[in-house]
Amino acid sequence: MLTQTELKQNVAEAAVQFVLPLLAPDAILGVGTGSTADLFIDALAPHKSRFRGAASSSERSAARMQALGIQVFDLNDVQAMPVYVDGADEVDHGLNMIKGGGGALTREKIVASVARQFVCIVDESKLVQTLGHFPLPVEVIPMAREVVARRLAALGGTPVLRSGFVTDNGCQILDVSGLSITAPADMEALINNIPGVVSCGLFALAGADILLMSTQEGVRQLGRDTENTPS
Ligand code: A5P
Repeated sequence: MLTQTELKQNVAEAAVQFVLPLLAPDAILGVGTGSTADLFIDALAPHKSRFRGAASSSERSAARMQALGIQVFDLNDVQAMPVYVDGADEVDHGLNMIKGGGGALTREKIVASVARQFVCIVDESKLVQTLGHFPLPVEVIPMAREVVARRLAALGGTPVLRSGFVTDNGCQILDVSGLSITAPADMEALINNIPGVVSCGLFALAGADILLMSTQEGVRQLGRDTENTPS
């Protein structure tokens, strides 16, 4: 029986094999944040001569890549990326995701928006029928925290301030539990439109294109068009 860490390691290695053929020598790839993304960075580092560098979704991932000799580029200097690779806290069968458990949701969404495709890497515990069991992270401008919290409560959620946490953007996170997200793209648009919200951890308006999911039987590759009910 593989442990969750071993499952994450397997999918990280599978992701490296998936992205290498997509990377020209001058390519910049987008790199996410979290424990699975950390393992992806570690598995990617031995191949760093095969591409130019990376754009990072967090200070944490940037530091890890730099320590391993992967050149990190400011996103303002990057025009295009073939691929963005990141984990998720939950992913549904339509490849909509909840992200931001590590608090990097806004930069993750920005970097992902530049990439041609989003490759989501998870272990099988992250696949759900309906998003919302994992509390939805919402990044807020600090002075708007309470008004945004009231609006999120009106949507049926229970927002809780992530205590003592400041994002890379100097903002705060409300973790919203109790939402059953049956229409993820509508919910994302609704929350995005609340004044004071920087971004929300729903990735549905632009979800993943490819899901690499680590199972006890190996890594499965699922696309938006794949019949992806788990076997
Ligand atoms: C970081 O802000 C998140 O979006 C992560 O990608 C997500 O929380 C998955 O993290 P793990 O790979 O640690 O589960």
